[in-house]
Amino acid sequence: MERTFIMIKPDGVERKLLGEIISRIEKKGFRIIRAKLFQPDRELVEEHYIEHKDKPFFEEIVEYITRGSVMAMEVEGDSAIEMMRNMIGATDPKKALPGTIRGDFAYSISENIIHGSDSKESAKRELKLWFG
Ligand code: PPS
Repeated sequence: MERTFIMIKPDGVERKLLGEIISRIEKKGFRIIRAKLFQPDRELVEEHYIEHKDKPFFEEIVEYITRGSVMAMEVEGDSAIEMMRNMIGATDPKKALPGTIRGDFAYSISENIIHGSDSKESAKRELKLWFG
């Protein structure tokens, strides 16, 4: 069993996709261990995206994630990190395949609905950061 950090971003909440996304996660067979719906502050989001601090889109991404509520979740299942990344789909919506969450719902690279940890190390770091 593996655990990963999943965040439904503000556009996912605004577009009323919470139910759809949670349903996909549960139907796949994963278990949601912890979840919280809240508006994260700048400090938390800057720390979350710290590895992208020098990227040109850093400020944009911090503004975007702090603009409203997100649903932060700890999700458990076999190979949860890799399988959730597959279900989420590519970052660029032009490359995200139909059937993936981004392929079905995202139309912008800067607003792409959902985040999932990309490695065991990131999952550990992100779960600690968001849930303590
Ligand atoms: S990189 O450059 O390959 O390390 O970036 P990547 O891992 O693909 O993406 C890191 C996070 O930044 C978001 N992203 C962007 N936001 C705004 N504008 C642009 N152009 C952009 N490109 C990437 C991307 O969605 C990633 O966020 P998460 O939450 O991890 O999906």
